[in-house]
Amino acid sequence: MDPAPRLIIATRNAHKTAEIRAMIGDRFEVLDVTSFLECPEIEETGTTFLENARLKAEGISRVLDGWVLSDDSGLEVDALGGAPGVWSSSFGGEEGNHALNNARLLREMEGKAERRARFRCTMVLAQSGKEVAHFSGTVEGAIIADARGAMGFGYDPLFVPEGHTATFAELGDEVKNTLSHRARALTQAVEFLAGNA
Ligand code: IMP
Repeated sequence: MDPAPRLIIATRNAHKTAEIRAMIGDRFEVLDVTSFLECPEIEETGTTFLENARLKAEGISRVLDGWVLSDDSGLEVDALGGAPGVWSSSFGGEEGNHALNNARLLREMEGKAERRARFRCTMVLAQSGKEVAHFSGTVEGAIIADARGAMGFGYDPLFVPEGHTATFAELGDEVKNTLSHRARALTQAVEFLAGNA
């Protein structure tokens, strides 16, 4: 039997890699960039999720053989004109500081009646330095006025998905993974790989 083809996830986040591996099963050997010392750091200089996901997938597939899948995601809040968007992870002033990000979001939303928001995720699949396909997933919801729940990460304690009364941080990963932006984009990527790889 031929060995399973290699799918490299353009991330250093073990949680993301495990989530993708669980959805893909054993059709692919799923690795991430932590397995490759020669992998370059890709700067996310784009102004859209697609640009950033493309930079990562194309940059990494230029130096590593096999399929490369990247993702870029964030929160868009209607009352803030779509902010924080691609700058979601540094909204509070310090890259990756979720407490500061949530504190700024709560401050900016104070007294606002319009609470609609969505998480958006774009994934790019690339080979030999070129995009082959991209996929996008969104989950609509609302920003609440006080954080609730301890599960998940990032803005999860402030986001109630449409059709629910609990936040992502209260619902937990099992429910979140059935409706999240990332799960929706990943479902499309998995379908594409099943038909094309
Ligand atoms: P990245 O695409 O994983 O770098 O995510 C960018 C930022 O968007 C994260 O640091 C979070 O602030 C936010 N974000 C993306 N996905 C989620 C999510 O599922 N829950 C909460 N916050 C998220």
